[in-house]
Amino acid sequence: MERTFTMLRGKEIIVGITGGIAAYKTAELVRELTKRGASVHVVMTKNAMEFVTPLTFQTLSGHPVIHEMFELFAGSKIGHIALSDIADQMVIVPATANIIGKIANGIADDFLTTMVMAITVPVLFVPSMNTKMWESKIVQMNINKLKDAGFDFLEPIEGDLACGTVGKGRLPPVEDILEKMEDIFTDKDLEGETILITAGPTLEFIDPVRCITNRSSGKMGYALAKIARRRGANVILISGPTHLKPPKRDIKFVEVTTAREMRDAVMELYSESTVIIKTAAVADFRCKSENCQKIKKKNDESVPTIELEKNPDIIAELGKVKGNRLLIGFAAETENLLDNAAEKLKRKNLDMIVANDVSKKEIGFSSDNNEVTLIDRSGKTKHIPFMSKEGVAHLILDAVKKLIKKRKLKEEDWY
Ligand code: PMT
Repeated sequence: MERTFTMLRGKEIIVGITGGIAAYKTAELVRELTKRGASVHVVMTKNAMEFVTPLTFQTLSGHPVIHEMFELFAGSKIGHIALSDIADQMVIVPATANIIGKIANGIADDFLTTMVMAITVPVLFVPSMNTKMWESKIVQMNINKLKDAGFDFLEPIEGDLACGTVGKGRLPPVEDILEKMEDIFTDKDLEGETILITAGPTLEFIDPVRCITNRSSGKMGYALAKIARRRGANVILISGPTHLKPPKRDIKFVEVTTAREMRDAVMELYSESTVIIKTAAVADFRCKSENCQKIKKKNDESVPTIELEKNPDIIAELGKVKGNRLLIGFAAETENLLDNAAEKLKRKNLDMIVANDVSKKEIGFSSDNNEVTLIDRSGKTKHIPFMSKEGVAHLILDAVKKLIKKRKLKEEDWY
């Protein structure tokens, strides 16, 4: 089962490699692209071949690597035209100051530059170079020229550089390049919406070393945040403690620990949102009195009694103040899945609930995959079969999009 939902499957991708030390990292990109089901064609400049060999890329992509200006494809078409005709997206990794300058100024003196002139699909530049070169007015001028002409860029990151200095110029991680490529392919159908998502567990302290929590890993909520962002929404992610990497760019990220902290963050930010999705597994109870010191184990058979009290029900509180925002809940159930979920939808005044059977090991808590049923206010259900959590996130957001459309139609009724 795929771990990531991908728009790259079945796509024809051209990977251009130019002569920079980061060229070896492009091997991993080609491998990941083919793993995601893309058909990859590698084009190298002469300088790139000083750093890496075509054989590596031919082996990884399963296609011949093109580096000669006058190589012919099967049939009579000139190679660069044939390749640019079949391409769905091109990415140049690493993109040196030299290639950026040449393309920005219309120079087409090798296969790669000639092909860029002929291509009509999106081209993504991923520059990597020494910090001073990156900051040079000439390079920045050329980049701006290319951006104005509609080319995409993923900026280098800060860090140790091959030339022995530290600064901006390192190639971004392959994961980020893939995310940007996915992003380019994704329709921005949630633009204009602000989606607040809660994720992960909350954690309630018993004493400074012990706590009450649950098995939520945050994967489902983080997948929703990532896909909503990719589809053009503004995203606010409020997360309990997880082992996941914080989301990268463009997502407002708020970390909390306890249910009360999550409640405060949600109440502070919900008014900015148009849609709220509560994926978090909030601990329903906390200790009545928190012990400042570690509870000591006694030398007899006695065990301490912990008195619990209720935590705030955040989603129920939202249900009372949501206005015309869409409020989507999750229901983690181990029995009577649909009945229990439908009851929560009504009691908490939700617009939709995602019923999640958490009694199965391969879905629900912590797994990379999920299988859920959506229930709306009219009782209509839609089953989402077993697939990656990113795939489930896409389908939940498709349903949210339909609800947004309905809400808009209702608003128009007022006129
Ligand atoms: O994080 P993962 O490992 O990927 O797992 C995903 C998940 C199983 C946690 C997720 O898919 C899920 O089912 N989340 C809901 C967990 C839950 O707490 O369900 P519930 O039935 O107890 O709560 C119903 C709804 O009320 C939920 O939207 C919950 O966020 C909300 N709630 C619950 C209690 C509370 N005090 N405040 C709340 O807002």
